[in-house]
Amino acid sequence: QAYNERESLYIALNFAKDFFVKNLHTEEGRAIGLSYFKERGFNQNIIEKFDLGYTLDGWDHLLKAAKEAGHSEEILLKAGLVLQKEGDPNRVYDRFRGRVTFTIHNLGGKPIGFGARILTQDKKQPKYINSPETEVYHKSDVLYGMFQAKKSIRENDNCYLVEGYTDVISMHLAGIENVVASSGTSLTENQIKLIKRFTDNVTVLFDGDAAGIKASLRGIDMLLEGGLNVKAVVFPDGDDPDSYSRKVGSQAFTDYLAGNAQDFIAFKISLYADEVANDPVKRAELIKQVVQSLAKIPDPIIRSVYVRQSAKLLEIEEEIIQIELNKILLKVQ
Ligand code: CTP
Ligand code: MN
Ligand code: MN
Ligand code: MN
Ligand code: MN
Repeated sequence: QAYNERESLYIALNFAKDFFVKNLHTEEGRAIGLSYFKERGFNQNIIEKFDLGYTLDGWDHLLKAAKEAGHSEEILLKAGLVLQKEGDPNRVYDRFRGRVTFTIHNLGGKPIGFGARILTQDKKQPKYINSPETEVYHKSDVLYGMFQAKKSIRENDNCYLVEGYTDVISMHLAGIENVVASSGTSLTENQIKLIKRFTDNVTVLFDGDAAGIKASLRGIDMLLEGGLNVKAVVFPDGDDPDSYSRKVGSQAFTDYLAGNAQDFIAFKISLYADEVANDPVKRAELIKQVVQSLAKIPDPIIRSVYVRQSAKLLEIEEEIIQIELNKILLKVQ
């Protein structure tokens, strides 16, 4: 065969995608996987659009079918689809078993990996099992949903950034297609460059828990350094975009985004507003934090607009911010 290894990986991954999609419509798949998706409000349309699937319970359903179709164990291993048994590397078994699957596509729409969600409440097992790094799946270069989102990101000149697979899908169901997920890890430079190919504007929607907000603060500073204009939306306690949109419905969700997208400075300040109100030491800390973020904005004109706005929100003289900012900027240059 004339295929090189990368091509063989793509073909094996596409076979796995088709297999998982087909499994969703078997008796077991319908009873367990499809009913799970239906419970979450995912319809047939969205299931097809995102190549959602199901992996049958068992150790070698994919392995057997793929080998029968001519894929070698070596390629299946290199594609991250099967694993070597500990202590017996000649024995391999399916990585994903008894889970629903989210296909991860590259920009051209080819499957390059999978995220697989558990269906039980078994706390001993991880909620998601994901494909490992492979020759065709570099996690730090990929944002989940970009294939389905890129056209809409361009058209809207804005990209929503969420944490999870299901947030992306629920937002599509709510009619919002310009959305990608970081898949729960912190943003990388390449992911930011990827967004910049389509827009300069990002709205960060992280889960409304402490971890989510902390993650968003780190991400915001990185996006700023990348020269992007950043807004943020905070959801009520504990909600993520998926749970919130299901709770309030598509129209109220869309309205919430429109009404609550805060400029990043206002966002940062509002996060600390209560803590800072009567505590001059904390207030000084917040000012320093805001100045740190301002220093990351590469464009001096945009930066000066934000300096003015920050001064207003923090109720201090613009000059004080400018002086603090200069300390950082002069050090760097
Ligand atoms: N994630 C992961 N492994 C885990 C937990 C999370 O890879 N054990 C990644 C997944 O990409 C997940 C994202 O982090 O989508 C966000 O995690 P979380 O908010 O916990 O999951 P949700 O996407 O909200 O999933 P669900 O609504 O099904 O609970
Ligand atoms: Mn590469
Ligand atoms: Mn979370
Ligand atoms: Mn979540
Ligand atoms: Mn969720």
